Amino acid sequence: MKVAIASDHGGVNIRQEIISLMKDLKIEYVDLGCDCETSVDYPDYAIPVAEKVSRGEVDRGILICGTGIGMSIAANKVQGIRCALVHDIFSAKVTREHNNSNILAMGERVIGPGLARGIAEVWLTTSFEGGRHENRVNKISTYESNAIQK
Ligand code: RB5
Repeated sequence: MKVAIASDHGGVNIRQEIISLMKDLKIEYVDLGCDCETSVDYPDYAIPVAEKVSRGEVDRGILICGTGIGMSIAANKVQGIRCALVHDIFSAKVTREHNNSNILAMGERVIGPGLARGIAEVWLTTSFEGGRHENRVNKISTYESNAIQK
């Protein structure tokens, strides 16, 4: 599995924590920034990660900002993206099993690095259950495909 990761200035510490986790898990990753201490705009980081996932250049994405909200809103505008904003272990597991989420968003002003690491580990290692959930996810994709043609 290959993962693209990015944060804005509000998510740098958790991004480094998740990079450390991916090294430990021997997961290949591409780090799209930010590298700065100054204020940046979260869509400039969310959209490139989401487009990489959408194009199939990576399997999944992880995005961190202050709340995770801006990142998730922006990522979910990109075709084929199912970005889940998660701040607990249960949701991390179920959003993989049921929603087949392909991007994980978290907020560094909401949770600490230890919980973020635990959430990311569960999210990265849990498989989609398929079955009845596949039918539901397909309904979202069908709507998205039809909406784009309007
Ligand atoms: C940046 O101040 C903050 O708005 C951003 O990190 C994020 O929380 C947006 O949703």
